[in-house]
Order: sequence, then C-alpha cells, then structure tokens
Amino acid sequence: MLTNRPKTKILVDGGDPDETLRVKKLLGLVDGQTTNPSLIAKNPEIQQRIASGHSLTSQEEKDEYRKIVQAISPIVGDAGVSIEVFADLDTTAEEMFSQGEEMFAWIPNAYIKYPCTHEGLRAAEMSVRQRVRVNMTLCFSQEQAGAVYAATKGSKEPVYVSPFVGRLDDRGEDGIDVVKNIKTMYRNGDGHVHVLGASIRHLDHLLSSFALDVELATVPAKVLEKWATSKFPMPAKDFTYKAVGANGQVLKPIPYKELDLNRPWQSFDIRHELTSKGIQKFVADYRSTLKRSA
Ligand code: E4P
Repeated sequence: MLTNRPKTKILVDGGDPDETLRVKKLLGLVDGQTTNPSLIAKNPEIQQRIASGHSLTSQEEKDEYRKIVQAISPIVGDAGVSIEVFADLDTTAEEMFSQGEEMFAWIPNAYIKYPCTHEGLRAAEMSVRQRVRVNMTLCFSQEQAGAVYAATKGSKEPVYVSPFVGRLDDRGEDGIDVVKNIKTMYRNGDGHVHVLGASIRHLDHLLSSFALDVELATVPAKVLEKWATSKFPMPAKDFTYKAVGANGQVLKPIPYKELDLNRPWQSFDIRHELTSKGIQKFVADYRSTLKRSA
C-alpha cells in the first residue's frame, strides 16, 4: 500500500475496470483513469466478443465504451475518467463536440479527450464554454500546450493537457523535456491548465514526472505494479533524469522556447507529425474491432 502519496495524482492508463480495481487494491488509491480507442479495443470483453465472431456495430462499440467507463467511474477519485472522442483527420470540431457532449453525460466525473489539432482545439473552446471538462491529448510540443492554454482561457473547470513522453522517446527525442518545458511555460499563466504526464513507459518516466511536479500522471498498470514491487520509490531531492531510450541511446534534448500565452490560440504553430500519426493509429485500432467482426 502506498503510505506516502506523491502530490501528483495517479491515473491508470487502460480500458479494463478489473485492472483498475486490481491497481486500486495494490496502491490503496487511484485518482483517475485515462482511456483511448486503442486501449478500449484491447478490453478483454471486447476482445472476447471479436474472438467469438460477434459483430460489433459502431453503436455497439459506443455502448461497450460507455459500459466500461461507467464501471470505472465509481472506482476512481477526483481526477475523473478521460473518454476520447472518435476522430479521424477530417472530423470537424462540431462533430467532436457533439460526441463530447454525449460522452460527458455518461458519468459524473468525465473529462473529454480531444486531439491537439486545430479542430480539436476548436472543440475544446466550445466545450469549456459549456462546462464540459476537457483533456487535450496527443500533445507533443510546447506550442501545442501554449495553444491549449490560450484556447481554454476562462475555463471554470481545470483543463488537462497530456504530453506523450514515450512516443517522443521512441523517435529519439527526450519526451520528458516537453513536460519540463510546458511546466516552465505555465509558470507565467493562471494555473487553469494541469499537466498530465502520459505515455509513461517506465519507472524513470514516473519518478521524473513526480520530480517535475506535474499535477497528474497516467500510468499503465504494469508500471504501477513495478512501482509497488519496488516499494514505491520517490525521487530524491537531487534526482536527475537520465535521458536514454529503450536501447540505451542518448535522447535528443528538446529546447525551451519563450512563448507568450496571451496570444490568440490560432497563432501557435501546433503542427506535429506524431499528433497526426496518433490519430491514424487510434482510428485503425478502433476500426479493427469493427472489421474483424463477422
Ligand atoms: C494517454 O492518455 C494515453 O492513453 C497514453 O498515455 C498513450 O500511451 P502510449 O504511447 O503508451 O500508447
């Protein structure tokens, strides 16, 4: 059991209520949960349906998603459950927002995930006006986080932004630098955007997120299990993160940029290859559950 909890809220990154329950028993607490189309596609019940040749229509897939988040919702604490809209590269803000509004009504503690794209940011702008809580996902750059800040300014609810650490590491760049740079940039802000460290692949990512004082971190069960079996280590005062990739290669630093958070959000350069690739992967994983059904 976790006796000395970090300031950072701990979320489970997954799509299976039983797994969330298991982690809660192990840690004694779970503050929240993030889901995404790839994780939902891996849900054991959905996998079982597909394996038994059961057909899943898009309505059934949505019903399954709702059942999963409704089962997770009461297990977790005040960081809520993040639910991702189904969006491809052509989905408009209006389409995303309409899904977001519907999903937001599924549970009392929902956060709606939109991608850090132009349309995703427009959907976020609409959402915060209607007090629909948002989690801006697939964030890979400081500029994207700057745009999230500017697009959601005035939100009455905390807004989450999710920088994806592991996927930047995967291509040889230091993902932790992006988290650090966003935290530094937000020091000049009003605190309405909370940083949620995502795509956490190992204990060093987790400890470094704690050391950077991120408000939240979403972590796969297997990393949390490793943290528990290692007796819940915390970063020492002089903790330094070793920016090395999975094969031991030194990761390329990502430099800090001076960005004015008071600029209109449309003026930030939000393009990032990994955001588009991430959307395409979510679409493919979502469709695979529909396609493989008989
Ligand atoms: C965050 O909300 C995402 O679900 C997640 O952290 C993605 O991690 P991955 O890069 O390991 O898929």
